[in-house]
Amino acid sequence: MARVAVVAGDGIGPEVVGAATAVLEAAAELHGVALTLHPWDLGADRYLRDGVAITGEERERLIGDYDAALFGALGDPRVPDNAHTRDILLGLRFGADLYINFRPCKLLVPALSPLRDPDPATDIVFFRENTEGLYAGLGGSFKVGTPDEVATEESLNTWKGVERIVRAAFEYAAGNSRGRVTLVDKANVLAREGALWRRVFAEIGSGFPGIAQDSMYVDAMAMDLVRRPQRYEVVVTSNLFGDILSDLAAQVTGGLGLAPSGNIHPGSWALFEPVHGSAPDIAGKGIANPLAAVGCAALILGYLGEDAAAAEIDECIVASIRVGVTTPDLGGAATTREVGEWMVDRLRNGRE
Ligand code: NAD
Ligand code: IPM
Ligand code: MN
Repeated sequence: MARVAVVAGDGIGPEVVGAATAVLEAAAELHGVALTLHPWDLGADRYLRDGVAITGEERERLIGDYDAALFGALGDPRVPDNAHTRDILLGLRFGADLYINFRPCKLLVPALSPLRDPDPATDIVFFRENTEGLYAGLGGSFKVGTPDEVATEESLNTWKGVERIVRAAFEYAAGNSRGRVTLVDKANVLAREGALWRRVFAEIGSGFPGIAQDSMYVDAMAMDLVRRPQRYEVVVTSNLFGDILSDLAAQVTGGLGLAPSGNIHPGSWALFEPVHGSAPDIAGKGIANPLAAVGCAALILGYLGEDAAAAEIDECIVASIRVGVTTPDLGGAATTREVGEWMVDRLRNGRE
């Protein structure tokens, strides 16, 4: 029996997670997947109520007692410094050493692209390093609040950390018939970390002679993801660059409302969440697109080895777009809940 912890979180989190869990339960039932969902009350409300975002004991229990977690989103205007998001989300990424941030951006239906004449084959998978870089929390503040204030953030890069994410990207490419792996960095300026990443990339890449390999500076990559996104298949990059480029690639392939992600330590634990945030501008209106969260439900089933159930959810996502049962961001008039209900109905009754 697989156990999945569910953290709906803040803003649109509960809305999109409501739809995603309904779809996940329906697909699991249909395919005989033994799965239980366990809600966890973590987020801004709890932080503001108790003064603590997540205790060490809770973090250990989340990681130790569950196979995986599904998150909605974290972020609330009442917590302007985002302290609870860092404690909970980054705390779990670092605490469980979830070094792969897996972010697929596939153009499911060409009309979703904001580009003129999009290539229907556009299908990029990001391998974002998830435990190092500028997210490591190194740096300091000095003379805060004075005209002499100093703030530094340092980028941490270890051979071990870079090696394992680059290897994961190549192994994914080899196992999924992907013809190219692209390294994205800023080696022309950030020369020390750039040299480390490029040496690792060349060394690991030499073991995959059948796969095309190239590197791009992040500024040119931002441009090229708009100019010819179809060129990219697997992209491996550092924590911050992966954060930024995956939002860009998500928009190019239909928007944040569609982009799922997984934070994964293979063989150990994983946390799945939409790429998007808590979207305070639309929270509570019932119009948030649940497809990114529903895509996470498919990723969870795939992670649990339930490929048929995962594929069925992916089919549901495409079907809902094709028939136009979508939220306003995709041009439809359906509510978050209606999109979820349509999918559950399709799973249970095969109706469209
Ligand atoms: P955001 O992703 O929440 O929203 C950006 C824009 O995309 C907004 O206009 C929003 O309405 C739209 N959008 C996002 N998701 C959507 C959906 N499912 N359907 C329709 N439209 C959607 O980014 P932001 O506004 O920069 O951040 C808001 C908060 O979320 C911040 O506190 C931020 O730190 C947090 N955040 C959390 C996560 C996470 O939990 N993993 C990720 C990103 C941002
Ligand atoms: C994401 C988010 C997070 C990140 C924030 C909320 C900490 O933007 O998952 O993309 O920067 O990694
Ligand atoms: Mn982000």
